[in-house]
Amino acid sequence: MTKDVFDAMRESDSVRSFKPEPIPDPTISRILEAACWAPSAGNLQPWYFYVVSNAELKAQIAAVCPGQEQVADAPMVVVVLADPAKSNDRYGERGAQLYCIQDTAAATQNILLAATGLGIDSCWVGAFDEIEVQRLVEAPPRLRAVAIICLGYGDERQHNKERLRVAEVTKILH
Ligand SMILES: Cc1cc2nc3c(=O)[nH]c(=O)nc-3n(C[C@H](O)[C@H](O)[C@H](O)COP(=O)(O)O)c2cc1C
Repeated sequence: MTKDVFDAMRESDSVRSFKPEPIPDPTISRILEAACWAPSAGNLQPWYFYVVSNAELKAQIAAVCPGQEQVADAPMVVVVLADPAKSNDRYGERGAQLYCIQDTAAATQNILLAATGLGIDSCWVGAFDEIEVQRLVEAPPRLRAVAIICLGYGDERQHNKERLRVAEVTKILH
């Protein structure tokens, strides 16, 4: 039983402290499946998801994510990688610089929402040295690491989601 999608959006706040308890394999599978259901330009799916639960490797990755101790703390992290060349082949520069980034962002958001729906806390981390992360996860040179997602059972509960009001960011054109 998963949460209603609106409840999941409201509840999916960033969690930066985790219990050591691992995520069950079937739950991980469902989260990765959600990533793969994301939309992508031309349905190219220019993404890869590298799952890291090895403590030593997580610590090495955390060391190249300035101030992001949650990367080592989380029982599992997913490194989301984009394949700009794949998007470039079909859409040129716009594909490489925009579409594949949007595609991987959509997949990342699916991961966050699916995780919340399944009772797993998360944090999207963008502060990292791309080249070093790519080296540590042994990604082929054509891939670009675009996000690291920390996943696990949170050690804190904040629920202080602050957002601009709809009216502040919306313009209805007639
Ligand atoms: C592109 C992107 C990069 C982010 N990078 C980081 C990060 O490096 N470290 C971190 O703790 N949170 C990071 N976040 C999480 C945001 O800080 C968080 O979503 C925002 O403050 C709203 O809080 P909430 O998710 O709890 O509602 C990132 C979020 C996005 C979308």
